[in-house]
Amino acid sequence: MDLKSYIKEKCRLVDVELNKVMPLEEELPYSLHRSMRYSTFAGGKRIRPVLLLAACEAVGGNVDNALAAAAAMEMIHTYSLVHDDLPAMDNDDFRRGNPTNHKVFGEAVAILAGDALLTQAFILLSSPSLAAAVPPATLLQVIHEISSCAGSKGMVGGQVVDMESEGRHDIDLPTVQYIHIHKTGALIKAAIKSGALLGGARDGELASLVRYGEAIGLAFQIADDILDIEGTTEELGKDAGSDQARGKATYPAVVGIEESRRRAAELLDMALESLSGFDHRADPLREIARYVVERKS
Ligand code: IPE
Ligand code: IPE
Ligand code: MG
Ligand code: MG
Ligand code: MG
Repeated sequence: MDLKSYIKEKCRLVDVELNKVMPLEEELPYSLHRSMRYSTFAGGKRIRPVLLLAACEAVGGNVDNALAAAAAMEMIHTYSLVHDDLPAMDNDDFRRGNPTNHKVFGEAVAILAGDALLTQAFILLSSPSLAAAVPPATLLQVIHEISSCAGSKGMVGGQVVDMESEGRHDIDLPTVQYIHIHKTGALIKAAIKSGALLGGARDGELASLVRYGEAIGLAFQIADDILDIEGTTEELGKDAGSDQARGKATYPAVVGIEESRRRAAELLDMALESLSGFDHRADPLREIARYVVERKS
């Protein structure tokens, strides 16, 4: 299969959905809605919504019923990036090839745009039209999964430990692993689990896809750490070298770059192994797993 065209096609569907559900720039308050759209349509890879749709397809589901959740995941991810870049957090100037949200709209609007993106995701997930198309019990499970993974025991919790570990020289591997599994792995796992649930996965399939999601979720952040060292700002569309400048707790900082690569490769094997019981419909997930560790941006 051709991963590039698969991603392109799925991104098109996700962008149509996002465009439909995102408040218009002509709607009040203009600054807020412009800021929300600015970061959402700045050109992200859309890997979380694509994973959600691919997991749905891997279990034989219909992606039409998963598009809203895919768009919701991208809105939550975009909010996390807008806040991650703020001066009080990573204090970065570039994101998705453009000046960061607060550089353009100011800190107050950037904070509120993040808040609104997070809330908008749940407006979408709880919409009456979605509840009419998807079994309500499944929808409730998806909302529970996504909100749990985004909250204090998921992404937000990981971000807090990331901040508190900055500039410290006594950070050990379990701590970096905790940070990565939570700040990044949690939303990736939630995307895959939600896609599987919406696709009607059986219990065994769901457990295998969750293992796949946990493996590539951690691998994704290890690859991000390596790219922060080896990539350029132009290639990445965001500030390269930011981690070392801030003394971040990263895999390369704790175990070195070669060992980081080895661990990412090991996680790729684990991810592929989790899919061994699936047929060709899981090929996109297999290819995405390879892409996650081999990507250049
Ligand atoms: C960046 O995520 C933040 C991390 C969790 C590493 P992505 O690399 O998916 O960023 P976009 O969405 O493509 O901009
Ligand atoms: C970000 O981790 C994780 C979240 C946004 C939740 P990073 O701080 O490493 O992400 P980048 O490198 O700025 O994209
Ligand atoms: Mg950060
Ligand atoms: Mg950052
Ligand atoms: Mg990073």
